[in-house]
Amino acid sequence: MNILGIWGSPRRGGNSEVLLDAFLKGAAEGGAEIERVALRELKISPCLEIYHCFKEGTCPIKDDMLPLYDKLLAADVVVLATPIFFYGVSAQAKIMIDRTQALWARRYVLKRDFPGPERQGVLLCAAATHGRLLFVGARLTAKYFFDAINVTYAAEILVRGVDEKGAMLEKTDVLEAAGNLGRRLARGEKLPPVHLSPLAV
Ligand SMILES: Cc1cc2nc3c(=O)[nH]c(=O)nc-3n(C[C@H](O)[C@H](O)[C@H](O)COP(=O)(O)O)c2cc1C
Repeated sequence: MNILGIWGSPRRGGNSEVLLDAFLKGAAEGGAEIERVALRELKISPCLEIYHCFKEGTCPIKDDMLPLYDKLLAADVVVLATPIFFYGVSAQAKIMIDRTQALWARRYVLKRDFPGPERQGVLLCAAATHGRLLFVGARLTAKYFFDAINVTYAAEILVRGVDEKGAMLEKTDVLEAAGNLGRRLARGEKLPPVHLSPLAV
């Protein structure tokens, strides 16, 4: 089992990183091969709407997204960990997601063979406030990201009320749940798909 953790926060040691690491620790204990990608360390251009991907299924922009395409296609489980910024995913995460338009085109425009959908996707989010609609934007973005790369949206852990660096460390029940989720997915457990109705959770 090959588990790819994509960490989308600019803040080292922040809340989404702690959450992702708890998940990945559980996954490693469950026997998975894990890889963690820190988007803040990569140079990834935003999508430039060249539409080369509609013809070729590949992106002509030569940057750090190129190896990530292969990783996204090879992973059995893709985990996106992001803080909530202005009611959506971080800019780092959104830029990476927009670039998967090339995979969307490969799948939906060119109708090429594509791995999945037995592969699974997980959304991990950290946010400071408590509003009812806090995760609506990120959940919708995750749904269509996972659809573009053909992984089933299998699980999510959405954490309210964490702002200061280190706040997530106090959420021991959440970290335990993240570790358990990692262990279950590492063992190949298939989870029922997440339904986005209701969107506000
Ligand atoms: C630019 C920016 C925008 C933010 N927007 C929101 C928001 O819309 N709602 C919210 O609850 N928290 C918001 N926050 C707070 C972060 O989501 C929160 O501090 C989170 O724990 C950060 O996770 P991290 O440490 O992994 O980066 C924002 C923080 C920043 C820096």
